[in-house]
Amino acid sequence: MSRNSLIYLLLFILLQFLLVEINCEVKFPISQRYFHTTTYIDNKLYILGGRYTSDDTIKTLGREFFYLDFSTGFNTNSLTWNTVNNFVPQHHGAATVVGGAQNDTLFLYGGITNYERMSMVYSFNPKKSWMIPTLEGNDGSEVNRKAFLTGIADNGKMYLWGGTEMITRYYVNDMLILDMIDLTWSTGSLINAPIPRNEYGATLLPNHKIIYMGGSNGQNLGIGLDKVYMYDTINDSWATQVTSGNIPSRRFGFSSNLALDGQRLIIFGGYNVPSKEATYVLDLTNFNWYVPNINGTIPSSRAYHRADVINKYLVVTFGSGYNNSKEDDVLLLDISNNDQYVWTGYYAISDSAPSPIDSKKSRNYKLIGIIGASVVGSMVLIAGTYYLHRWNRNRRTKIAVHPPSGKLDNQTGQKVVLTMVNDNGNNDQQTKQ
Ligand SMILES: *[C@@H]1O[C@H](CO)[C@@H](O)[C@H](O)[C@H]1NC(C)=O
Ligand SMILES: *[C@@H]1O[C@H](CO)[C@@H](O)[C@H](O)[C@H]1NC(C)=O
Ligand SMILES: *[C@@H]1O[C@H](CO)[C@@H](O)[C@H](O)[C@H]1NC(C)=O
Ligand SMILES: *[C@@H]1O[C@H](CO)[C@@H](O)[C@H](O)[C@H]1NC(C)=O
Repeated sequence: MSRNSLIYLLLFILLQFLLVEINCEVKFPISQRYFHTTTYIDNKLYILGGRYTSDDTIKTLGREFFYLDFSTGFNTNSLTWNTVNNFVPQHHGAATVVGGAQNDTLFLYGGITNYERMSMVYSFNPKKSWMIPTLEGNDGSEVNRKAFLTGIADNGKMYLWGGTEMITRYYVNDMLILDMIDLTWSTGSLINAPIPRNEYGATLLPNHKIIYMGGSNGQNLGIGLDKVYMYDTINDSWATQVTSGNIPSRRFGFSSNLALDGQRLIIFGGYNVPSKEATYVLDLTNFNWYVPNINGTIPSSRAYHRADVINKYLVVTFGSGYNNSKEDDVLLLDISNNDQYVWTGYYAISDSAPSPIDSKKSRNYKLIGIIGASVVGSMVLIAGTYYLHRWNRNRRTKIAVHPPSGKLDNQTGQKVVLTMVNDNGNNDQQTKQ
């Protein structure tokens, strides 16, 4: 390897490192979206896909993929998004869960896309990267593509009930099951299954039953919550359960999550649901609905958002129905006390005193790291340029004697620089709004 290309290679590696570091954190707000997916792996909430709320002409978002770090405290009014490389085509309305042999891999199924060649299933392991698993239906069409459904993981399988079938655009009620370890498809029972619908609520209960409720089957107001449906993942059977109490209004596009005690279900939002009627709780011991006591500033209701229980919080991300210049994209409902939930703007990692200072500190350290790396990088760059300049001067005299070898060396150098610019361009595209 010539000295020239060695220096270029070193510079290239260094610049790559700097680019990755700089692209890693995004301080500016991420555009508001809905029909995205959220997936919680190893203290990080990954967000992918969705539609713009602002620009209805573009509709489907770009290929942004980013996460919010839950290992440290933060304020929802100054979030730090971390961007990650992505090769899934732009899409919305897909379903994701965590699975795989190590239970550390994101599996994405279905969704709407303009990109013909979007595979049916993608997987993402934070320690490795994106993959297109080798499985039936990933290149052909043996498996139905569905959208606007919720994926539920249990027993190493991804349960994909109902939604909209993308070829016919019909509401469906089939149970599609992806074995995330063997990478095979199967289907579940249709006997006593609920009527077809999309944008329903779905939650896995501790007894390996998935509870389904509400949703849309084309009627304006959605399906009522006076009945809920339980799919037993152990013996592949459906049962219907009538509910009682203060039954919420019919709805779709809402979220449903298990409370910390595993004995109640918290639903939030829905399309055209007033803020005061956004949050309800279903007691799973008697299937009685009630309105929980909530302190803090009641946010606007949201539709097509996502909600995840992380530590003691119900974490609501994005959605439609709120003005993001007035409300934060991420909402936190402290659900640690079943008698009194609290909307809060601060995520604390432990009960002991909040740590906004700590989080600032860690960000500062990261900043110092980036600045330090930049300084070192600049020094290497300057030194490299100096040596290159000197070498070039020497070479010029050489070229006069041996033009062909000089030209070749020059081309090698050019090639490396071009690759660098390309990578930069791609990265820019992915992190741009
Ligand atoms: C897999 O991880 C999720 C959290 O990411 C957890 O809720 C679930 O219980 C885990 N499943 C298994 C089988 O370990
Ligand atoms: C499945 O198991 C549940 C108990 O979890 C039981 O009530 C139900 O009858 C079983 N269904 C079938 C079809 O075996
Ligand atoms: C909730 O608000 C009530 C008054 O509206 C107050 O008495 C109570 O201490 C608050 N609880 C919490 C946990 O903030
Ligand atoms: C959002 O709120 C801002 C500030 O109050 C306002 O200027 C803007 O018109 C609002 N946007 C919408 C879509 O209501």
